[in-house]
Amino acid sequence: MSHTQGMLSPESLKGKTIIVTGGGTGLGKSMGSYFSELGANLVITSRKMEVLEETAKEITAKSGYPVHCVACDVREYEQVERVISEAKEKFGSVDVLLNNAAGNFISPTERLSHRAFDTVVDIVLRGSYNFTLAMGKDWIENKQKGNILNIVTTYAWTGSGYVVPSACAKSGVLAMTRSLAVEWAKYGIRSNAIAPGPFPTEGAWDRLLPGNLKKKYDPATKVPLKRVGDHQELANLAAYLVSDYSAYINGEVITIDGGEWLMGAGEFNGLEAIPEELWDAMEMGRKKGGSKLKMMWLYFKGMRKLKI
Ligand code: HXC
Ligand code: NAP
Repeated sequence: MSHTQGMLSPESLKGKTIIVTGGGTGLGKSMGSYFSELGANLVITSRKMEVLEETAKEITAKSGYPVHCVACDVREYEQVERVISEAKEKFGSVDVLLNNAAGNFISPTERLSHRAFDTVVDIVLRGSYNFTLAMGKDWIENKQKGNILNIVTTYAWTGSGYVVPSACAKSGVLAMTRSLAVEWAKYGIRSNAIAPGPFPTEGAWDRLLPGNLKKKYDPATKVPLKRVGDHQELANLAAYLVSDYSAYINGEVITIDGGEWLMGAGEFNGLEAIPEELWDAMEMGRKKGGSKLKMMWLYFKGMRKLKI
């Protein structure tokens, strides 16, 4: 058994219709693919129809379940409504909305034009509330239960320099998750979020770590578990949250980052850089009767290895 294997029993999502925004690439594709393997009717949407169609073909060939594609810019409410009505036409009703589409790039904030700022906030925050509002209205009007899962990031609550529009937008999505978890619970609509740490994808990593930056700035080194995420372990968590197994989880944000954000937050976590010899020297200094010479030797050896 390993984190790279599917976790839920076969057909756990059979009969459920799930809309995945940004479902043609990266993490959206991996999550959607696993939902389909578990029997879901999948609707994937993003701006590029060719990409969606290629992904749909790939997924259906593997799972045998239908995948419907609708091109849509999540910033446009009418286009969002069209995705929902097409999904209903095709599969009868929608059970789950996964807000995964995003736009992002790195830049010192003062270098951004106001249009650049708008672009990221509009894709991430407006796109998520467009879909949530349109879907929520439909569920409430038809007295149907629903389940919303939003993909945020850990900097939704810590903030982060150099991706400020994304941080603002993701924190808005998190606020929406928690707010609607309470307000719409009376309609049987749950609302949760996942905050992934670093998971390699072409879309995110080429934009956030362009060119040589990828070599110089290895995300795995910032993770206490010393590795990046595997798509299947994220898909496992997402499948659980969109399934009925998680029926009592509402308003939660689940972090899946190998401990990355806490590593940056804990006051003394940087002491991981201290080599064993230095800890030994400090311990000898604390205890009575140790050899001063050995302590000094350990101290200098440790200091030579120290990377901070
Ligand atoms: C500064 C930029 C820019 C950049 C575009 N702009 N790229 N500014 N740095 N790298 C500016 C443009 O100059 C323009 O402003 C405005 O933004 C709109 O640009 P367009 O190219 O017209 O936008 P659009 O075609 O809508 O494309 C959106 C996009 C693009 C966000 C710019 O990158 C995209 O389509 N991304 C989708 C996929 C994506 O980003 N995936 C990553 C998600 S990863 P002006 O003033 O010139 O008109 C993620 C990870 C989080 O969120 C956490 C990781 C740990
Ligand atoms: P990705 O492959 O670039 O995914 C982004 C998707 O959003 C693309 O399929 C893109 O498709 C779609 N999209 C962008 N703008 C859109 C718009 N205006 N309308 C409709 N769809 C749009 O990147 P990813 O890494 O898989 O990211 C997926 C999610 O995970 C995002 O929410 C991201 O913030 C989050 N995340 C990723 C990481 C990571 O390490 N990868 C970490 C934390 C959080 P089109 O271009 O065809 O529109």
